Amino acid sequence: MNQSVTLESLQLHFPSAMIGRSLVIHANCFDWLQAVPENTLHAMVTDPPYGLKEYEYEQIAKRNKGEGGIWRIPPSFDGHERSPLPRFTALNAKERGILKDFFIEWGRMALRALRPGAHIFLASSTFLSQMVFSAIVESGLEFRGEVIRLVQTLRGGDRPKNAEQEYPNVASLPRGSYEPWGLFRKPIPLGMRVSDCLREYGTGGLRRLPDGNPFSDVIPSERTPKKERAIADHPSLKPQSFLRQVVYAALPLGTGILADPFMGSGSTIAAAEALGLCSVGVERHNAYYHMSLEVIPKLSGLEHPIQGHHRRLFS
Ligand SMILES: C[S@@+](CC[C@H](N)C(=O)[O-])C[C@H]1O[C@@H](n2cnc3c(N)ncnc32)[C@H](O)[C@@H]1O
Repeated sequence: MNQSVTLESLQLHFPSAMIGRSLVIHANCFDWLQAVPENTLHAMVTDPPYGLKEYEYEQIAKRNKGEGGIWRIPPSFDGHERSPLPRFTALNAKERGILKDFFIEWGRMALRALRPGAHIFLASSTFLSQMVFSAIVESGLEFRGEVIRLVQTLRGGDRPKNAEQEYPNVASLPRGSYEPWGLFRKPIPLGMRVSDCLREYGTGGLRRLPDGNPFSDVIPSERTPKKERAIADHPSLKPQSFLRQVVYAALPLGTGILADPFMGSGSTIAAAEALGLCSVGVERHNAYYHMSLEVIPKLSGLEHPIQGHHRRLFS
């Protein structure tokens, strides 16, 4: 067991920077995960590229030029201009096969780098979660359920296309009101109980809320606030109010190293930083890696992004 692995040592041979207790790395996470010593990481919280295509260099360039590609502007039903969203439904059977293989391979790499009993929180979408989660299970990780982020999305709810007048009382899909996050665990070694795993590896369970109540798998959330979007111009930015709750739960003893292998602008790392936890983020795209260096100190410095009951608990 790698009791002695330090956060700094996880930069390996990749370009990187330390920000507070966080390490950010510019790399393809497949290369990085392969180089991480076995049984090292205590948890992962990550938001992968679901459609695979949308974060290809060519597709990001098209989005930046407003040329579309897989990125489409959702219909503006209330007069507000929408940001482009990736069209996951655009994946054909072959691309779905590629997506499945991608997650099986990624899951195997994550499995090797994680400590026994370590959890992964994996953001997904209602369309693809079933396939992505099965692929992760095929890689050897245990399925431990889902965390439902309650948030009004812009997907679904439309009347049948070109027959809106004819079928005014029909919606072709429900209006999306949640985002599923898969919860997985690296199997606990045979004969060990959660308590043994906590003692041996510092993993195995989830951290309770600061008031002693268990972490719940339904989290009332919000769209990412304007204030955060003004700090981080990333198309898939997640809100601090949600991430801070998940990151808190992911390290059962409040110690260890949490990783986000698809870091984007660094919102997960900022959440860990805000809670005083050690984390490592990996991003392949040069512009997003550099963006994270600016974004992490700003997002982590935001006070009280958590609303209601949880705000009192986490502030
Ligand atoms: C869905 S976004 C995550 C955004 C993040 N939730 C945020 O709030 O900024 C996925 C990110 O993974 C990056 N990415 C895609 N493939 C990667 C890979 N193989 N290794 C590392 N990063 C990758 C993309 O460039 C993109 O920034």
